[in-house]
Amino acid sequence: MTDPIYVTDALIAEDIDAYLEQHQQKSLLRFITCGSVDDGKSTLIGRLLYDSKMIFEDQLAALEADSKRVGTQGQEIDFALLVDGLAAEREQGITIDVAYRFFTTEKRKFIVADTPGHEQYTRNMVTGASTADLAVILIDARKGVLTQTRRHSFLAHLIGIKHIVLAVNKMDLVGYDKTVFDRIALAYRAFASEIGITNFTAIPISGFKGDNITALSDNTPWFKGPALIEHLETVEIGSTADEAKPFRLPVQWVNRPNLDFRGFSGQLASGKVKPGDAVRILPSGKMTTVDRIVTLDGDLDEAVAGQSVTLTLADEVDCSRGDVISAADAPPEAADQFEATLVWMADEAMIAGRAYWLKLATQSVSATIQQPKYEINVNTLDHLAAKTLELNGIGVVELSTDKPIVFETYGDNRTLGGFILIDKLTNATVAAGMLHFSLRRAQNVHWQATDIDRDMRASLKNQRPALLWFTGLSGSGKSTIANLVEKKLHRMNRHSFLLDGDNVRHGLNRDLGFTEADRIENIRRVGEVAKLMSDAGLIVITAFISPFRVEREMVRSMLPEGEFIEVFIDTPLAEAEKRDVKGLYKKARAGQLKNFTGIDSPYEAPENPEIRIDTTAMTPEEAADLIIDRLLG
Ligand code: ADX
Repeated sequence: MTDPIYVTDALIAEDIDAYLEQHQQKSLLRFITCGSVDDGKSTLIGRLLYDSKMIFEDQLAALEADSKRVGTQGQEIDFALLVDGLAAEREQGITIDVAYRFFTTEKRKFIVADTPGHEQYTRNMVTGASTADLAVILIDARKGVLTQTRRHSFLAHLIGIKHIVLAVNKMDLVGYDKTVFDRIALAYRAFASEIGITNFTAIPISGFKGDNITALSDNTPWFKGPALIEHLETVEIGSTADEAKPFRLPVQWVNRPNLDFRGFSGQLASGKVKPGDAVRILPSGKMTTVDRIVTLDGDLDEAVAGQSVTLTLADEVDCSRGDVISAADAPPEAADQFEATLVWMADEAMIAGRAYWLKLATQSVSATIQQPKYEINVNTLDHLAAKTLELNGIGVVELSTDKPIVFETYGDNRTLGGFILIDKLTNATVAAGMLHFSLRRAQNVHWQATDIDRDMRASLKNQRPALLWFTGLSGSGKSTIANLVEKKLHRMNRHSFLLDGDNVRHGLNRDLGFTEADRIENIRRVGEVAKLMSDAGLIVITAFISPFRVEREMVRSMLPEGEFIEVFIDTPLAEAEKRDVKGLYKKARAGQLKNFTGIDSPYEAPENPEIRIDTTAMTPEEAADLIIDRLLG
């Protein structure tokens, strides 16, 4: 145990550079504090900062920028005032997701993520915990293990935090009673083992009085240690453990300043690497050896987990952003279907079947999530049936990606097993996820190469395949115009196929209704079928409302560039409703038909369709001619 460092340290006044240098060489522990509102979280954090004479990160930056300010840093701060300040900041800071605070002792630097305790802040806790090595779970000695304690512990474990400290706080209010402490530690052990936490360190403390924070307290002679700060100073931190794992470097970018140099830059996710090491590049599986390890400060003999470097390779192998350079004899897997835990972080609920961007390390792919296998009640740990996940919901799902990603299970490697999901329209981060494993069916189903390809099929038909994707409101005229287009194509000896919403819903999609999820699945299936038909060399015409932009874009991305032609049959709602060919608008207005597009279910009009047909300005004949003109012209 060492005394906390004081900012008034002689070194800092005399030689700021030497001080900062010494400071930089210390290891950094990131931790998170969890507790409910009254557990004394602010007091504890205040105590840690106070006892280490609070050096905040921004103050440190100021020190670096202007060493003249040093004189003001060492002022005595009133403890109570400090705690009040932190508490007030926290209360007002509902909008601040996570407050990060910095302090240091002689042995280590610390960043503590201070997150709100209420249930609605699950996502904040996940954010704060995602980079943490340790979690301090605070318990009020008078109250014992609460629902919140269980929830925070579950989340900390889920996020993969290796070290748990059970800080039994307010010991001064229970007369420093050993039996109270023992009872709580025992109760916690029973719960912890249930969720897979095998090890934790229980410490009786008083944040308010300072017992067992920096030094063992005379008030708890029965407690043999360690004191909280001593423990924080000595636990093993992430990078040490990561170094022992196989080497992985997710490539962030390819560095090619001139023709003589080609380097692959990124941060080592795990392991070590030396020049001469045999490496394998995933997902291609190509093998080569490391030539040099280049940094701004010159070449290295070795790089370890956490370091950012540029590698040059002995051979001219294909390697680009998103690839993972890894130990040749212990490569990670690549797969495109997974089971994962998701923590939903957006106000809009998850939509099963919809494609989101998935970012994992430096890889970015499109991913579709299935309906949850179950949702987890974080308070009781019960598994509940669920169709979706709402804000702060946690569930286990299956997901598939549009191309294979290189990954490890989250338990093995947080960098290659943790991911985020991003909404394709708003670009907002909507979920954090942890990969469990790839699904066996993905491992065992391979793409079978066939000898006759789409070009050969199309050239036999003497045409170029295309997909005319009609979209528009019910009753806008999609089917009518599509039908005319196909008749005209037929007369021109073109091979075509028309897929129409009402018809497909009688067969292939008869199990689907009109909820958001069903419509998405409807379009996904139609997209797949249309793609197969275009592979067959056909000109495919589809007539579906297809109300959502994201799904139309998904189908577009399935086809070769230029083959997807979006045809917006633009009929205003009032006009479609006036025509009401099938009498459905009337029913919908009368409340006899739920989720009707344009009435109580949205229609997202195309922003840049290849063809727009204003049905109020031309006849179906004219529209069909225009479309054929654009298609063949
Ligand atoms: S989509 O939204 O999933 O693309 P799709 O084009 O397959 O819809 O089916 C739309 C047709 O189903 C409409 O033309 C209409 O005849 C019929 N229909 C029945 N109920 C609804 C509803 N709630 N909303 C829209 N169309 C409906």
